[in-house]
Amino acid sequence: MTKIEILKHFAQIASVYRKIRTLDPEPIFAIKDILLKHMKLKKPIKVADIGAGTGRYTEFLIKALSPSKVKAFLVDASFEMLQVAQSYLKEKYDCHFINSFAENLPFKNDTFDVIIVFNAIHHFDFRRFIREARRVLKPRGFLFIYTRTQEQNRNTIWGKFFPGFSDKEQRLFWKDELIGKLKRLRKFEIISYIEFEYPRTSTIDELVEKAFAKHYSTFYLYKDDEHIQAIQVFKENLLKHYQSDLIYYTDENTFVALRKIK
Ligand SMILES: C[S@@+](CC[C@H](N)C(=O)[O-])C[C@H]1O[C@@H](n2cnc3c(N)ncnc32)[C@H](O)[C@@H]1O
Repeated sequence: MTKIEILKHFAQIASVYRKIRTLDPEPIFAIKDILLKHMKLKKPIKVADIGAGTGRYTEFLIKALSPSKVKAFLVDASFEMLQVAQSYLKEKYDCHFINSFAENLPFKNDTFDVIIVFNAIHHFDFRRFIREARRVLKPRGFLFIYTRTQEQNRNTIWGKFFPGFSDKEQRLFWKDELIGKLKRLRKFEIISYIEFEYPRTSTIDELVEKAFAKHYSTFYLYKDDEHIQAIQVFKENLLKHYQSDLIYYTDENTFVALRKIK
């Protein structure tokens, strides 16, 4: 997917994004625990949310730490996603909205105490983003990444029942690849690695509705008629596999906390 296609996708779903994507509180609580363990939080910390989208996780983190303790910078390449973020956050919190790419951050060296990247690292040029993260983080600053590995993606209800879903999604890292890349990073150390598993409930119709709304950018890797046909097969697969319309499944995600070495 080219950068233009990614921006087109997020422009199209910006207005419904908050409704169609699930928010996981657990990684935010993990961040809070780590920060409280390592920092005094006497004065507001500077947080950058890169690929912040509509600001769901920025907002959750601000609330978890207390609004008086956070000055947040929401960075996103999509103007439309940031506009939605502004409508939720601008009046309530100390927030700044930056329409920019993760690979070229418009900040001075050693600016941030914390960088978070939620559900977005697979959209970035990893090497160039890390170089920027290393540059704009203060010494001993934290980088928190929340993502799905290829293995976890294959285990989702989409990976199991939606034709072509996991084969088309090649942007996510395999678990060993992710750990290997992060372990080898110059000037960063891994301080926490957690695999979360979430029980979910949904009706088949709700899942079909999400697929039509293209709630994952993966659906943009399908041609229009291929996407419609795949939704039909997805629905048939679910009906065959589950006995009732209300279905139970799990989602898995990976959380990694890194700290910049002085
Ligand atoms: C799946 S959304 C995640 C949004 C938010 N972090 C969340 O979890 O709700 C990915 C976001 O990354 C942004 N994005 C994609 N490529 C980017 C890049 N190279 N630089 C900055 N943002 C980018 C998209 O515009 C989109 O808002």
